[in-house]
Amino acid sequence: MPIEAAEALAGKDLLGIAHLEAGEIQLLLDTAEQLLEIARRPIKKVPTLRGMTVVNLFMEASTRTRFSFEVAEKRLSADTLNFSASTSSVTKGETLFDTARNLMAMAPDFIVIRHPRTGAPHRLAREVSASVINAGDGSNEHPTQALLDAFTMRRHFGELKGLKVVIAGDIRHSRVARSNAFLLGKMGAEVRFVAPPSLLPVEVESLGVKPYYRLEPALEEADVVMMLRIQLERQKKINFPSMREYFDFFALTPERLSMARENALVMHPGPMNRGVEIDSEVADGDQSVILEQVTNGVAIRMAILYQLAGGRRDAHAHS
Ligand code: CP
Repeated sequence: MPIEAAEALAGKDLLGIAHLEAGEIQLLLDTAEQLLEIARRPIKKVPTLRGMTVVNLFMEASTRTRFSFEVAEKRLSADTLNFSASTSSVTKGETLFDTARNLMAMAPDFIVIRHPRTGAPHRLAREVSASVINAGDGSNEHPTQALLDAFTMRRHFGELKGLKVVIAGDIRHSRVARSNAFLLGKMGAEVRFVAPPSLLPVEVESLGVKPYYRLEPALEEADVVMMLRIQLERQKKINFPSMREYFDFFALTPERLSMARENALVMHPGPMNRGVEIDSEVADGDQSVILEQVTNGVAIRMAILYQLAGGRRDAHAHS
């Protein structure tokens, strides 16, 4: 059955959840649901993006997002170019925009960008004609992560509306937390942020989430518990006494998890720091969907590319 390709997203950029309507989020989740079965086929490839080129421009470390985009692009038959800052002419002083202009001279259709600076994808999108997809910019947004998180929750609970979602850890430096707060708020879920005061953002109330300074009260009736690592790379100094103390007060242990709903999901965007924000027994336990998030990430990234491309060649791909 052909997958619906909506005009709403065709030819556009995907820069953040803040810019998406609830209907567009729903469309991407529905598209991912249909594309998920491609991973179960003996030949995991459809011709949807044949003849199209995607540049993966990663100026910051990544394992899951980078490989997940590459797998998604290859499953849709796109040609992929992988750019990593450490092996490029960025090391010789070339700027992002000179890099982008040179890459545009090779006529890509999409640029997937991860960058340590907030707003870099938005600036790039103003300079280039390719569709730009934000794969994480500084502490601002990580829209494809929030979409795959929502997709994972919806697959377990049927809908997002009414879910109680706890997001705990270094919220202040987390683009994952911000994108999830925007997305879950738009879709009618309740979001609870948990962190020591030094790791909560100043604008927490304006994000429409409930702040908590301890994990235990936030866990009451929680459907989802999403743990985040402490992003030491974005902090000039450590904002809490010690890792040991952080584990004692904020880590998700089996005892703390038992305070949430019986069927609560344990989520983590990765990379995990076992023994800091999460106990291994929980990370590897029955309620953990951490690896499912990674599998779902491929379907979500395929859905994004599919819809931004306007569902080209969908009749061949999915009939
Ligand atoms: N979740 C996530 O963004 O992981 P990576 O940094 O490994 O891409």
